[in-house]
Amino acid sequence: PATADAVEGGGAAVEGGTADLDPGSIAKFAVRMPLPPVLAPYSVSGTTSYYRMTMKEVAAAILPGMPTTKVRTYNGKFPGPLIKARSGQRVVVEQTNGLGQPVSVHLHGAHVPESSDGGPMDLIQPGGSKTYTYPNQQPHANLWFHDHAHHQESEHVYRGLSGYYLLTDDTEQQLPLPSGQFDVSIALREARFDQAGQLVYAMDDWPNRNVILVNGKPWPYFEVAARKYRLRVFNQSNGRFFDLKLSDGSEFTLIGGDGGLLAKPYRATVVRLSPGERADIVVDFSRYPVGSKVVLENGLGPGPVEHVGKVMRFDVTRTATDNSSVPSTLRTLPDLPPATVNRRFDLSMDEDGRPDPVGYINGRTYDHHRVDTEIAYGSTEVWTVTNTNQLAPHNFHMHLVMFRVLERNGQPVTEGFETGLKDTVSILAGETVKLQATFTGYRGTYVYHCHLFDHSAMGMMGNFRVS
Ligand code: C2O
Ligand code: CU
Ligand code: CU
Repeated sequence: PATADAVEGGGAAVEGGTADLDPGSIAKFAVRMPLPPVLAPYSVSGTTSYYRMTMKEVAAAILPGMPTTKVRTYNGKFPGPLIKARSGQRVVVEQTNGLGQPVSVHLHGAHVPESSDGGPMDLIQPGGSKTYTYPNQQPHANLWFHDHAHHQESEHVYRGLSGYYLLTDDTEQQLPLPSGQFDVSIALREARFDQAGQLVYAMDDWPNRNVILVNGKPWPYFEVAARKYRLRVFNQSNGRFFDLKLSDGSEFTLIGGDGGLLAKPYRATVVRLSPGERADIVVDFSRYPVGSKVVLENGLGPGPVEHVGKVMRFDVTRTATDNSSVPSTLRTLPDLPPATVNRRFDLSMDEDGRPDPVGYINGRTYDHHRVDTEIAYGSTEVWTVTNTNQLAPHNFHMHLVMFRVLERNGQPVTEGFETGLKDTVSILAGETVKLQATFTGYRGTYVYHCHLFDHSAMGMMGNFRVS
């Protein structure tokens, strides 16, 4: 299969913008990686926790030694705050739109009624509010929330509308995995800045987004003790794929993906994350002497490798005791019932460099009035999804359900990070994946789409109705 670094196009000049900031002018590993700010509920009653957030534009200190950057945020945080939830405990979030444009808040990976899914047409107008109810009737998972307003999601998320949502349960809590300060959430994304330190947004512009932000800071460092850490990595990029590896090539342990823990851990030296995907890994820094510096690198383009090939640096600054371990069995995954329906989905977009590219699924661009796929409640289906482009990478995300990846390019998926529950799967040019999902929980209309936000905004999205 073709690799993601072969993609051409983009780079459109942005009207009225100043010249680009050279990514090389931003010092690497000069800023500490912040931890995501945890949002406290304003009230807890019985089985429900109540939260409030206001979306607003703020000036954030992102680039060291540069003016602040205007960003669109949940509650003034860039990226947004972290909500800690527990399976079986309901979360209710009142979202107020303090921005000048309609928004929609989607909790990615959540099993929710249509009315709280934050679909593309379920908009909150400027000045308005909406209360989302998240039942959390699903196992532990590293979820995240982001904007989903039709045609606007790409720019909104790019300008800052994303946040973290960790859902835990007893299965996860009973394990002796690294916890507390040794359990760290890390959100990755790409960005392009102008010389005034402002974010530059243009559609399909990802070859020019060559600054890597980690928890909202460019190429930060993070001080760690020489012991095991659990790193929950979120790819919150618009379009950038990452092949994450440690600079000394050493192994880490993959313990989970989008939908929580894997059945068992896998040793790996690289993990591929397309936009929207999550990886849960354990890195044992005890192999490094105090004083060591280990860079988290990215092996997948496009862009200058001296910039996009680096993500962040771990500085081993002290020793610490470590009672944590990674058990050889992590959880039991749900059975795969026999599938009764097979479907095909072909993803494509124009590759002719037209100024207004269009995204298609099965030859059709998104129409919010049209139901593309009718599904019987309770049924189990196998979806074969192909990226028919020559160059462009895509991925595939389904709302409402977690799926399993049965095959990639005709080969059964029997090990690694794709053996777990997934809600998003990478599909590079020419690749085909076979997915299996069971449609239970809620009836209603939901979307599936390519999670490169530029592509979903270009129409690479469809509606499915479960009834
Ligand atoms: Cu992460 Cu439809 O979205
Ligand atoms: Cu989603
Ligand atoms: Cu795509």
